[in-house]
Amino acid sequence: MYDSHKPNPPSLQNSHMAYNKNTNKPHYHKTPFSLVIVFLSILCVSFGVIEARSPFACDPKNGLTRNLRFCKATLPIQVRVRDLIGRLTLQEKIRLLVNNAAAVPRLGIQGYEWWSEALHGVSNVGPGVKFGGAFPGATSFPQVITTAASFNESLWEAIGAVVSDEARAMYNGGTAGLTYWSPNVNILRDPRWGRGQETPGEDPILAGKYAARYVRGLQGYAKGNRLKVAACCKHYTAYDLDNWKGVDRFHFNAKVSLQDLADTYNVPFKSCVLQGRVASVMCSYNQVNGKPTCADSNLLKNTIRGSWGLSGYIVSDCDSVGVLFDNQHYTRTPEEAAAETIKAGLDLDCGPFLAVHTQGAISKGLLKEFDVNNALANTITVQMRLGMFDGEPSAQPYGHLGPRDVCTPAHQELALEAARQGIVLLQNRKSSLPLSIRRHRTVAVIGPNSDVTVTMIGNYAGIPCGYTTPLQGIGRYAKTIHQAGCAGVACNGNQQFGAAEAAARNADATVLVMGLDQSIEAEALDRVGLLLPGHQQELVSRVAKASKGPTVLVLMSGGPIDVSFAKNDPRISAIIWAGYPGQAGGTAIADVLFGTTNPGGKLPMTWYPQDYVQKVAMTNMALRADRSNGYPGRTYRFYKGPTVFSFGRGLSYTSFNHKLVQAPQEVSVTLTKFNVPINSTILRNGIKAKHTNCNKLTLGFHVDVENTGTMHGTHSLLVFSTPPSGRWSTNKQLVGFQKVHVPAGSKQRVWFGIQVCKHLSVVDNFGTRRIPMGNHKLQIGDYKHSISVQLSTRN
Ligand SMILES: *[C@@H]1O[C@H](CO)[C@@H](O)[C@H](O)[C@H]1NC(C)=O
Ligand SMILES: *[C@@H]1O[C@H](CO)[C@@H](O)[C@H](O)[C@H]1NC(C)=O
Repeated sequence: MYDSHKPNPPSLQNSHMAYNKNTNKPHYHKTPFSLVIVFLSILCVSFGVIEARSPFACDPKNGLTRNLRFCKATLPIQVRVRDLIGRLTLQEKIRLLVNNAAAVPRLGIQGYEWWSEALHGVSNVGPGVKFGGAFPGATSFPQVITTAASFNESLWEAIGAVVSDEARAMYNGGTAGLTYWSPNVNILRDPRWGRGQETPGEDPILAGKYAARYVRGLQGYAKGNRLKVAACCKHYTAYDLDNWKGVDRFHFNAKVSLQDLADTYNVPFKSCVLQGRVASVMCSYNQVNGKPTCADSNLLKNTIRGSWGLSGYIVSDCDSVGVLFDNQHYTRTPEEAAAETIKAGLDLDCGPFLAVHTQGAISKGLLKEFDVNNALANTITVQMRLGMFDGEPSAQPYGHLGPRDVCTPAHQELALEAARQGIVLLQNRKSSLPLSIRRHRTVAVIGPNSDVTVTMIGNYAGIPCGYTTPLQGIGRYAKTIHQAGCAGVACNGNQQFGAAEAAARNADATVLVMGLDQSIEAEALDRVGLLLPGHQQELVSRVAKASKGPTVLVLMSGGPIDVSFAKNDPRISAIIWAGYPGQAGGTAIADVLFGTTNPGGKLPMTWYPQDYVQKVAMTNMALRADRSNGYPGRTYRFYKGPTVFSFGRGLSYTSFNHKLVQAPQEVSVTLTKFNVPINSTILRNGIKAKHTNCNKLTLGFHVDVENTGTMHGTHSLLVFSTPPSGRWSTNKQLVGFQKVHVPAGSKQRVWFGIQVCKHLSVVDNFGTRRIPMGNHKLQIGDYKHSISVQLSTRN
């Protein structure tokens, strides 16, 4: 039986999506849309009045507390914080160390739920956010792995700014918090990781830039150190295994070298704190080299706060203090666990543990009240920077935001735009894509992900404003014949394959939307293999064989899939990776299929073949290959073996040429420290970066990107460097990227800067950055260039 959908008129720009309260389904409005907006706005204003939040503290209507010193917004925050802490009893303080912080009624302070999430839109995963009433949904952007594939830094910041607008609006309406435990910037080390979808991929520089830009978007920087919302980079550190073959994150001890920590795992966190100026970092469940991260003063106090200078609070993952005591038996008593974590630099516990055991720790002399004060100073400072002690929320900088600022047409358009920018064209035989509305009037739309909604938003999502499924999206361009092919992505049977083949035989083109969902890869669920689940592969091959016209394979997934069978099948014309493309994913997929959007996304991770995971234990944290035992290494930076698709892969419907207009060929580094021993070995392996003036050296490059094809297109120019071969060298390392839009037949000039300290360095076994002297090779798109780095004898 065919489920046919009539095509809508192709004037996409004029059709808008609106949320329908009764059915939870998206509706497409043409002319009446503005009327709906007016109506919704009236509705929302009245809701806003009813549901507006009362002040968290310092209520101007409370004569007993409004004049307390900590309420005086004109005083410096540190003075106000000290005043407040001075008024609290020890019992009151202890009840502020946990995510559901208790009220202090005698000081006019309400309770506060610290745990809210906003990974790619305001999410209801944490207890701090509740949808309903005036806030039935929020804009649901693509999952982060998809957004990362755009390689567009301004997009990441723009998304953060929209998400925090909606978060502030919901806070003002009393249905969300101001502290968001997002983003997740762990390195996607292993392709099986169930949470890889939440991350910006496998490259530390890419992840670091994503972290900084998304955090800046969320936090805003309108006024001094004031915060729009407080973001949080998590999970620090070397956390990237959830549950694999009986090893789970609550027990895993990640054995990590100082080199990999400095060179890879910590890079996004450092960038998040230094460049993103994030207000919080979360420590993880796992141990690093035998110590739970939340109890490691070297990782917390010395590194995050000491070296990087975090201005903000450190929070535990949810119940990780309980986990390190109950599951890891790291301390003998719960009081020791409380004392060790707080003394290591933990300021806030997600979970009840510190509320229960901190008093005991102090009574036993393991901890001082002074340590608790330090923790509270960090959390309360963030609350003050958020304006929570400034009285009426409506009188504050973001106080005007309300229901009408959530799911606006502009916000939803950005969600669509993000999906378009993140979609990656992996293969396109004989330029079979884009499809043509004239020649491909009927399209068979097949596969378990062809008409999905929640699958498109991945995990850590909320309730979207509405959805457009791939089937609906394609239905705007062509008549569709729909067949799911299998009941779900598990695809346990092939009973429906005959009907799917018949659909493909009767259509001018076939689109198979396959892949994964949260039943295959998720939090607490790592994969064991990389192939498509169940009988999916068989469905694709059989349909491709039956298909009358071109067959396009569209994959939805967070992690990579070994689709070698499809890559090598001449009957499969094109392969597209859509990640989890968010609420508007179906529109974006259809726009790419029909060429309304020229794809420009690039893979933020390596797609390994299945036999890679058969050779590599997920528990092995080493990034570098080891010839002595055949360990192949991880990520494009260290792994040299075969790939299905490589990091940075992504095709376009047009073609681009690069020309290097201006590029330095050599750079001299000067020693800033005397008595540094120098000989040929040291020069080759690298001089310590901190002994040189390299932080003052940035090399500027100009590249012309020419669109030599016939279609306008967007190009992400990726720049890699390879150090001279030496003891600590990588294959290559991404050192910069720029995204440019280039109209057909024209050129755009791109500038990028390479920082000698950061981008031309290697990291030694002790985690120290060194600059190897000699020729560093740069790969700029398809262009090769070489820079000679020398030690200057001049001063
Ligand atoms: C260079 O100096 C280092 C450290 O002083 C020493 O270990 C190494 O043997 C020297 N190498 C050569 C080639 O002189
Ligand atoms: C990057 O994203 C922003 C926000 O969507 C957009 O305005 C800009 O055009 C994008 N850049 C390119 C080169 O596509």
